[in-house]
Amino acid sequence: MKWSGGFRVLGLSCSPRAGGNTDLMLDSALEGAAGAGARTEKVDVPGLDIHPCQACNACFKDGRCIQQDDMQTLYPKLLDYEGVILAAPIFSMNLAAQAKILIDRLQCCWSKKFVLKEHTVPDEEKRKARRGLWLSAAGFDRPDVFEPAIVTVRYFFGMLEISTRERVTYYNVDEKGAITKVPGALEECRAAGARLVNPPEPTGEEQEWLSSLS
Ligand SMILES: Cc1cc2nc3c(=O)[nH]c(=O)nc-3n(C[C@H](O)[C@H](O)[C@H](O)COP(=O)(O)O)c2cc1C
Repeated sequence: MKWSGGFRVLGLSCSPRAGGNTDLMLDSALEGAAGAGARTEKVDVPGLDIHPCQACNACFKDGRCIQQDDMQTLYPKLLDYEGVILAAPIFSMNLAAQAKILIDRLQCCWSKKFVLKEHTVPDEEKRKARRGLWLSAAGFDRPDVFEPAIVTVRYFFGMLEISTRERVTYYNVDEKGAITKVPGALEECRAAGARLVNPPEPTGEEQEWLSSLS
């Protein structure tokens, strides 16, 4: 669904390697989104003070996390911006810990949905308009290297009630900046960023599938 208001895109750069592959991929995607008319914001996740979930279950009461750290400024953006880009490399066959800590802190969203049986994004129009993009790079030379992380990323977007998602992932990309030597990679990220804002019209079959979700 096309969103009638302004489109904001939150880009989460989760690698500890500033200027590394996923960071560059994110810059390109944000460029694409901005070029398509979005207001963009890039967040350096490793630079934030984000503590791991303590499994205290306090969020079971009202869907809110009681830990007072930088997640408190991220939650409203994660749940309100129209576009969310997760840029996170593969470490030890899954998402880098910096991304995983953030995702674990969406336990309050899980509580909201499954304990309190409420939406994490109350506005239906907003829910339908929200779109997500996962950008990743992995050093191993095997296309299935992203498989374990795909499940975690699906969970991440699910907690944010973002059902329209895309991914741009490159394997066999290891050295810092190696992504710049992969023909077309950053252009693909730029195009994916633009598509967040201006998605192509769904085909008849896609439209049918989308309707079955609501
Ligand atoms: C601690 C650590 C663990 C890694 N584990 C894997 C792995 O299990 N599989 C893989 O394909 N690459 C692995 N890599 C390589 C990174 O995925 C690769 O270098 C990637 O390009 C890093 O992206 P970045 O520049 O955005 O940080 C690992 C790198 C580090 C530092």
